[in-house]
Amino acid sequence: MTAVPDPQDLDRVARHALRMVADGMVLGLGTGRAAEAFIHALGARARAGLRVRVVVTSTRSDALARRMNLDVASLEDVDRLDLAFDGADEVTPALALTKGLGGALLRERVVASEASRFVVLVTPEKLVDRLGTRVPVPVEVVPFASPSALRRLGAIGATPTLRRQGSGAPFVTDNQHWIIDAAFAPIDDPAALEASIRSIPGVVDTGLFLGMASLVLVGDGGAVREIRRPPG
Ligand code: A5P
Repeated sequence: MTAVPDPQDLDRVARHALRMVADGMVLGLGTGRAAEAFIHALGARARAGLRVRVVVTSTRSDALARRMNLDVASLEDVDRLDLAFDGADEVTPALALTKGLGGALLRERVVASEASRFVVLVTPEKLVDRLGTRVPVPVEVVPFASPSALRRLGAIGATPTLRRQGSGAPFVTDNQHWIIDAAFAPIDDPAALEASIRSIPGVVDTGLFLGMASLVLVGDGGAVREIRRPPG
């Protein structure tokens, strides 16, 4: 279903993203391979003297940020986020995103929404014309509602699957919720679909991140391309 990103492209795009970071900033840090490449690059800069505070989006990124000796804060500790950096599973030319294959979508949305700018780091296989092309839409649900949410997602045209761990038990998010991966054909109207999914009782969040990214950095075989959100 998904090609594996080239780690060298991820390192390059992470180092490129670091150019936006200045001393004293408060940063949001996402989850997944691209976010982890950024956390590694940021850790190296912090060891060289850069002072930043970070708010993380998962226990996984929290552990890595602390290993890198970054100053990890909670949303309670900070009054602003200057920039948030994260990966994505799909990016359209209008910078609509699908996120959440790593399971951290809810905290990723909270942190990205608090940031003055949300910067997305990807490799070229993530670029699509329409969302829903290469990955399903992750839907975070309270466990009690998962049977009805599965039925209702099916009724609006999805092929829904409850995400499971290797053991077969449901995958549990950091928020103690479950995730339904809802496969759709390429999506014509993501905003309408987002509204339909959110109207299902027990749905907490979806992986459709619309109108949120300010800038997408694409690491592609030695170069980094910047894609800005079209005006309007
Ligand atoms: C985590 O929940 C996701 O939203 C990730 O940001 C997304 O899946 C991209 O991950 P990779 O950078 O590992 O491809």
